[in-house]
This record gives sequence, C-alpha cells and structure tokens, in this order.
Amino acid sequence: MEGNNRNNRGYLITIEGPDGSGKSTQIELLKKYFNDRGYEVVTTREPGGTKISEKIRELILDNDNEEMNGICEALLYAASRAQLVEQVLKPAIYEGKIVLCDRFVHSSLVYQGYARELGVNQVLNINEFALNGLKADLTIMIDIPYELGIERKRKQKKLDRLENGGDEFHNKVFNGYQQIVKTMKNVVIIDGTKAVEEIHKDIVKTIAELNI
Ligand code: TYD
Repeated sequence: MEGNNRNNRGYLITIEGPDGSGKSTQIELLKKYFNDRGYEVVTTREPGGTKISEKIRELILDNDNEEMNGICEALLYAASRAQLVEQVLKPAIYEGKIVLCDRFVHSSLVYQGYARELGVNQVLNINEFALNGLKADLTIMIDIPYELGIERKRKQKKLDRLENGGDEFHNKVFNGYQQIVKTMKNVVIIDGTKAVEEIHKDIVKTIAELNI
C-alpha cells in the first residue's frame, strides 16, 4: 500500500461471494490487518450501512414479501446503495480512509441481473445512476460452491428471503459469479474452501502485490 500518489484519497474495497462464503469473517481480519498498519478503516455492508438503507434491507429480506417483483427488488438494492454511497462511502474515501464493503454492485449484477434474469446491462444501468460516479478500487471475490455456502448459513441462522431462494436460484448465483464477476476488471478471485487463516493470507498477499 506504500508509495501511492492519489492525494490521500482512500480506497474502496468490496468483498463479494455467494451466501455463506465467509465474507464477514474475512472483513474483520482485513480490518485488523489495516488497523495494525495505522490505517483508518470503515466497514459497512449491503444492503444496509445507513439508517435508511437498513430499513430498505428489512423490506427486501423479509420472508413475508415473497410477492416482491424482481424489478422492485433491483431498484430497492440500488436505492439502498445510493444512500450508502453519498452518506458513508464518498465521505470516508474523501477523508483518506479504507472502506471495506460487504457486497456491492457485483451482487446486484449476479443476483438480480443474472439469477433473477433481469439482464446484467439493465441492472448495470440503474446502478450507474445509483453510484453517481463512484467505483470500487478493488473487488475481492470469495469463491465457494453454493451448496457449501448455504449449508454453512443453515447452521448459523434462519434463512432470509434471498437465501430461501432454493437450489436453482443459488446455482444461478454461483454461475453468475463465475461468468460475470470473473470476467470483470479489478476483481481478484480467492479460493473460499480453504481454512479461514489461509484465505486471509491469500487476501493480504493480493493486496500487497497490487500495491493499491
Ligand atoms: P448479506 O448481507 O450478505 O446476507 P447475510 O445477512 O446472510 O450475511 O446479503 C443479503 C442478501 O441480499 C444476500 O442473499 C445477497 C442479496 N443481495 C442481492 O441480491 N443483491 C444485492 O445487490 C446485494 C447487495 C445483496
């Protein structure tokens, strides 16, 4: 991370992967890694991260809302994101902080664009509006088979509306990540089937190599 010349602008690092890929554990470890090196770190999650975005999150993930239309869902994710971008992400980056965001635009491209079959370009378009010029500096994708992810989730908690999407939906999410995210710029793929500490080492190695 040394030697950058970006006028003290911070960094936005987003962490992606299927449900149960271990993103939150890795975010905690990465936060500690950066804190130990003197960086100020902001961690946040999507959907959520602001009062308004957390309310939108409740609406989206509520199992009672099973009739929610796919376009409505995609727009709600984008609305939640737009609030997070202006209220949290842009100010933190402007202040030179490192922002670690649990999920971001790639989730919408995969879950709504690909798995819900709304069209990746359509979802990209509404998200460009929501992002208002902001782009992630780096996306770390934790790659695991969807069966393993959902199995882990079942053991942790009651599944939400998206997690309850069924095997076919999760299979599509997995394929979406392979096809969409793996072909995009600024994305690093990390093997999420390894032990927690090994995954953390792989992430740190990537960050050190990229010298972002
Ligand atoms: P997440 O917070 O990762 O779930 P958990 O509470 O289990 O950690 O994400 C909530 C769900 O929302 C998850 O199933 C993925 C889905 N999602 C989308 O479908 N589109 C999006 O744009 C985002 C950010 C999440």
